[in-house]
Amino acid sequence: MSDFEKRSSEYTKLINSAVSEYVSAKSFEGRESSGLEMMLEAMAYSLENGGKRIRPLLTLEFCRVCGGDYKKALPFAIGVEMIHTYSLIHDDLPCMDDDDMRRGKPSSHKVFGYANALLAGDSLLTLAFETVLSAPDISGEIKARAGFELAKAAGCSGMIAGQVMDLANEGRAASLDDVMATDKRKTGELIRVSALLGCIVAGADEEKIKAAEKYCENIGLAFQIVDDILDVTSDEETLGKPVGSDSENEKSTYVSLLGLDESSRYASELTAKAKEALEFFGSEGEFLLELADRLSGRKS
Ligand code: IPE
Ligand code: IPE
Ligand code: MG
Ligand code: MG
Ligand code: MG
Repeated sequence: MSDFEKRSSEYTKLINSAVSEYVSAKSFEGRESSGLEMMLEAMAYSLENGGKRIRPLLTLEFCRVCGGDYKKALPFAIGVEMIHTYSLIHDDLPCMDDDDMRRGKPSSHKVFGYANALLAGDSLLTLAFETVLSAPDISGEIKARAGFELAKAAGCSGMIAGQVMDLANEGRAASLDDVMATDKRKTGELIRVSALLGCIVAGADEEKIKAAEKYCENIGLAFQIVDDILDVTSDEETLGKPVGSDSENEKSTYVSLLGLDESSRYASELTAKAKEALEFFGSEGEFLLELADRLSGRKS
């Protein structure tokens, strides 16, 4: 196993066992209600069901490279993954992308119905803030700053703004600038805040935060371009979600505007820019260098 694989498997194990704990009945002891059991089941269904865990991994690794104890950043990492998972549940609903498969299984609304899928998303969104604000061994000041940044990135000027713009771009010839502005928000903001929370927990200074944000700005955009490419070139079994969803919904994407080759060239250019930002971290940045390459060349 390479150093990259060792570290990423250590992080993934931590993340996977923590997500299960946060949506277990035990975590809600003393707070029973008749709706709770069904919501826990629906939250666990989407959250425990794999996914690449890129965002929580960024939180843990940026905490480490900024000199912090990455285990202390775990609740923040899980908070971001909860918000990401909620965004996927809602993204798949018939009123949005109308996709029936997610992370290799039927989408939440296919199993729990529309209303409960909507509510499972709401539950994950709110549980994310409970998780961040109850993080052990972290000062109230750090938790408040992290919670504020997370809310801003996920909200109506961040990820949600991107989703609104993405829907508005359907069926019209959006410009490249429109698509870039959309992707920076719908995908870029959660990726940016994932790293930022790790930096905040580590007590990183402004210079480190700037380098982290530059890295994320570039991998974030590249990540969505690759997602759009895979929607055309991959298959449902490999991706764990439907392909052809973007053209079916007449989405404006890099691929629809620039074609596959140019989109892929642009993703590589952004990846190279992301790697430049890591020079600041010296040899500590090696894991993140490899991560940028792996994300750019990913097949799922
Ligand atoms: C999918 O994100 C949605 C986008 C922002 C492109 P991921 O590709 O990270 O999905 P999971 O978490 O691995 O399922
Ligand atoms: C989703 O973008 C972005 C968010 C969920 C915020 P996509 O709609 O392209 O993601 P997939 O392809 O369904 O995973
Ligand atoms: Mg979408
Ligand atoms: Mg979608
Ligand atoms: Mg997509």
